[in-house]
Amino acid sequence: MQEQSGVLHSNQVNPGTIGKVKAVFPALADWPEEVITENLDRLREAYRHLKGDCGGLYTSNGVPHIHEVFLPEAEPGTFRKEVCLASRQRAAEKMVELAGFPKRHLTLSLDQLEAKEKVLPYIENYLENKKAGRGLLIIGPTGCGKTQLAVAAGAEIIRRYLETVNFVHLADLCNMFRKAIKDDDTEYRLERLISSKELVIVDDLGSISASEFDLANINSFIDTRYREELPTVFTSNLNRQDMTAFFGERVTSRITEMCESIVLTGPDRRTKRGESK
Ligand SMILES: Nc1ncnc2c1ncn2[C@@H]1O[C@H](COP(=O)(O)OP(=O)(O)O)[C@@H](O)[C@H]1O
Ligand SMILES: [Mg+2]
Ligand SMILES: [Zn+2]
Repeated sequence: MQEQSGVLHSNQVNPGTIGKVKAVFPALADWPEEVITENLDRLREAYRHLKGDCGGLYTSNGVPHIHEVFLPEAEPGTFRKEVCLASRQRAAEKMVELAGFPKRHLTLSLDQLEAKEKVLPYIENYLENKKAGRGLLIIGPTGCGKTQLAVAAGAEIIRRYLETVNFVHLADLCNMFRKAIKDDDTEYRLERLISSKELVIVDDLGSISASEFDLANINSFIDTRYREELPTVFTSNLNRQDMTAFFGERVTSRITEMCESIVLTGPDRRTKRGESK
């Protein structure tokens, strides 16, 4: 491949090369020219990873393998081994893609949301929260940004920790319950979702008019995640009273026990946008 600027890619060491290499790697400031020349191949290799020009292997689910890279240290001729950030970032973005987030809500990141502060403590302690099976219950009126906050928090957890997150809308979960009866593949995916030790985000609890069958399955889903101490985030526009009417007292109290409540307020952003046209 032709490198645009020609930096680090000439076969001979041109007079300008040493300067260019030093510009790319500030750590080389004290390296004598001949040491740089001796290590040019390793430095070219490091530069390739720095640019992200380092594809490589994929795991079975299509997530790029995270590899290591040797980067020059200030001590002339020495290198340290580090995780290649380009490969880490590619892996994280693929994991975000696989999480099942609605595309619409992926355009805003956590930093762009005023409600960020409300979920930041949970994210910062995510690994402990996960172990203890703690989740979040994000509640508030329609359009106030619950799904947006849940998606941004989930994506942030993936990017920070490279932890798997599964997002599912309640309606899709209910469809899976029905389909699983006659479809082995759905049954398998559903079982994996129910018992996943990774974070599961269930969007819009109470949003659908659930049948007896749906309700029994939703209750058993919540019950399993509660009993097995599995981390689950819910969003809902039901208050506690409505939730009790919908799910009954037992499930409602389990949700509130396993989740920290995050209350969002504010206008419906959808209608606001509609009016301002
Ligand atoms: N903080 C925000 N800034 C700008 N737009 C937002 C913000 N939060 C949500 N939105 C947008 O407003 C719309 C409604 O948000 P959403 O999260 O779907 O609401 P809810 O789930 O509470 O009904 C979405 O299109 C979303 O992208
Ligand atoms: Mg929503
Ligand atoms: Zn790399």
